[in-house]
Amino acid sequence: ACSSARVSFSTTTASATGWTPRPHVIYRQRNNPNDFEKPGRPRYTHTTAKWRPVQALDEYVIELLPRRSLRFGMLMVFGRSLTEARLISSANYVRTELPTRIAHRIRDMQRLPYVVVTNRHIGDVYELYYTAFDTFRRVKEIKTLEDNDKFCSIVASMLRAHLTVIPKLAMGILECNGRMAAAELDRFMNTILRSRISRRVIAEQHLALTETFNSDWFSPGAKLSDSDFIGEVFLKCVARDVVERCGRAVQELARSAYGPDAAIPEIRVDGDLEVSFPYILSHLEFIIGELLRNSVQAMVEHHSKNPNKNGDKPPPIEITLCEAQQHVIIRISDRGGGISRDMLPHLWSFGKGPSTPQRLENLGQVPLMAATLQELRIDGNFSELQNMFPDRTARVDAKLRAPDNHHGSLAALSSRPPNLRLGISLPLSRVYAEYWAGSLELHSLEGYGVDAFLQISKLGNKNEQLATRAAMDA
Ligand code: COI
Repeated sequence: ACSSARVSFSTTTASATGWTPRPHVIYRQRNNPNDFEKPGRPRYTHTTAKWRPVQALDEYVIELLPRRSLRFGMLMVFGRSLTEARLISSANYVRTELPTRIAHRIRDMQRLPYVVVTNRHIGDVYELYYTAFDTFRRVKEIKTLEDNDKFCSIVASMLRAHLTVIPKLAMGILECNGRMAAAELDRFMNTILRSRISRRVIAEQHLALTETFNSDWFSPGAKLSDSDFIGEVFLKCVARDVVERCGRAVQELARSAYGPDAAIPEIRVDGDLEVSFPYILSHLEFIIGELLRNSVQAMVEHHSKNPNKNGDKPPPIEITLCEAQQHVIIRISDRGGGISRDMLPHLWSFGKGPSTPQRLENLGQVPLMAATLQELRIDGNFSELQNMFPDRTARVDAKLRAPDNHHGSLAALSSRPPNLRLGISLPLSRVYAEYWAGSLELHSLEGYGVDAFLQISKLGNKNEQLATRAAMDA
């Protein structure tokens, strides 16, 4: 059935046959100065990835192997009363879902224009996905706790290996800038990032449940709803604590980027200070951290160019917390000079967004994003970049470093190079916000400042059930 249903590819897509692209084609293109080496363009590096046979992939993409959707509420229900049978069933859910979901993304990558998919960084991501797909599809049904332990070590090592995916995608699209229509690139990036969140949540939730099941304090069947966590879901996420913690980390980051004498703005929080909700903490910290980082940076820059009359201190960044019936809203208001009108339409774009130093300057931000890995002084493993994004590993590290901060994932903020930007943090933050049925909007008062509105859906409610269904299916 699978061979008759095989998809045909156009000549502009890689991997029509599933085999290595012909090297002479790449050689000719790389030596065409009009194509790859335009002045001002990041240097293009081509892939060393090998394209593999696609037959197994077809079975997963074309045959009806459905993706079973999972909602936030279900994430919690599953772990609320944890038994061996539930853990094994969760393991088998992960075992069958991951290869199916990854297969669809591999197929998306095969449909990219040839020049994009043969980029070295995009090719590396393709290779990572193919290896993961091939590994997971071969795992046999999990029947015992011992099988589950073995499976968990495979999942954990895959999660670690995939930490480089976002920086690699970011570098890849930067190098391919202009070689693919911006709208199409955005569609591709939104899908690949949203589905990555799904896969990581599914995998991380299972690891966390297994960790709970294996811990000394746990007895099978015990209810988890009285503890702080159900798997990865932090049940008592206090908005004020999160923004204050992220604020301190961002101020620290700014001090190391601008020096100890720089005028770093204060961060004030008011409104519903007690508001709390269940959430995956690393996701929230990422979004708030990135918004605050943008605000602090814009304010330091703006203030150094336009010092106020009352001395050296810039005005504070004001954060307002507001609780409604279905939502919690976090508003972050800065006076960093706002965003110029011509940049606004591109703010959420991966392809056309503030991804070049010039664009960052237009945005009132320092051109901190370097165009190549050499400029970033990043080693080939991307080890400096991999902690920048929400991740369970970061949470575990943070736990080890600060036992009392047992829910923190601020490692992502505090371990990054202080002046590093990949230029995708805003659209990526919105992908995270929307993933859990929330939203992220920015309102710019040109010449004055920016108000960012992060709306968080109180998870488990009707709103979330409707909105996350689509997201989780990716
Ligand atoms: C990713 O992080 O990109 C993944 O696909 C994770 C998965 C291999 C568990």
